[in-house]
Amino acid sequence: MPFPKPSDILPSEITSPDIYKQRRRFVQAAGAGMVAGALGLTGARAEAGEKLSDVQRSVWTLPDKPTPLNTISSYCNYYEFGPDKDSPQRNAHRLQTRPWSISIEGEVMRPQVIDIDDLLKLAPLEERIYRMRCVEGWSMVVPWVGIPMIEIIKRVGMTGNAKFIEFYTLADQEQMPYIRFPLLDWPYMEALRMDEAMHPLTILAVGLYGEVLPNQNGAPVRLVVPWKYGFKSAKSIVKIRFVSEMPQTTWIKAAAAEYGFYANVNPDVPHRRWSQSSERRLGEFRKRKTLPFNGYAEQVASLYAGMDLRKWF
Ligand code: MTE
Repeated sequence: MPFPKPSDILPSEITSPDIYKQRRRFVQAAGAGMVAGALGLTGARAEAGEKLSDVQRSVWTLPDKPTPLNTISSYCNYYEFGPDKDSPQRNAHRLQTRPWSISIEGEVMRPQVIDIDDLLKLAPLEERIYRMRCVEGWSMVVPWVGIPMIEIIKRVGMTGNAKFIEFYTLADQEQMPYIRFPLLDWPYMEALRMDEAMHPLTILAVGLYGEVLPNQNGAPVRLVVPWKYGFKSAKSIVKIRFVSEMPQTTWIKAAAAEYGFYANVNPDVPHRRWSQSSERRLGEFRKRKTLPFNGYAEQVASLYAGMDLRKWF
């Protein structure tokens, strides 16, 4: 078991809900505060690189050495900002991350539009060092900051018909230069089965390395599902929809034979055009063996008991 047990966390490491709900999430640098004051701006600012306050250490974290921040923020897939690994870093400064709200719809008891700053108050922010594996064969280790997805599910309450959950991301031609091109079927949409979305490893991330997410990594809020290929982790989410049928996601529409709904990291099931048995962790020379479920088998394999994972890739 790579994770410590919840009983191993010291009570002193847990902030009481009363305290974290009152405190502001964002610690303003003195200079930034003065500028905001001079411009007459009010409310919490949340710009990339700003420090996040009250971040707790999570039990769901691995001992791997994190990939450097400048690698994580310069080697990205975010096709709305361009097709190359460095295009998101060059173009994503155009993304406006405040004000930002997420509409929660479909098979829920309490449909609602929730402001990002209220979402941040649903639960304590946690830092979790996760392994991330891209379907293209590279991997990295990311110290995410976020809240468990289950907290949002609890807030809206699902109906008995909710079996899957869709995550729609922003598609705004004004801010995203590649929306004009049919690289993918915009808006980018990914989805999970409800039990996957409720799994404690599934988070909505708002930061990395203790700071507000760089825009190119999916600010202000993106999904993170560490046992699946990275394309499931939808960036810059604007709508979450609970549905009864398994949806056709963006990548299934793009190439159904290559990208399955489940997209669980699986060294035994090759991509149509290449093997998935090994990976190159960014910054390392020698390849590593890819692990089933990206090293999270103990935590998630039971979700797929009895399923033929070659068919349901
Ligand atoms: N989300 C949106 N909206 N648009 C995208 O192009 N790319 C996906 C996923 N989420 C993508 C997205 C893919 S293919 C990967 S591998 C991960 O984001 C990459 O996340 P990272 O750049 O933060 O490592």
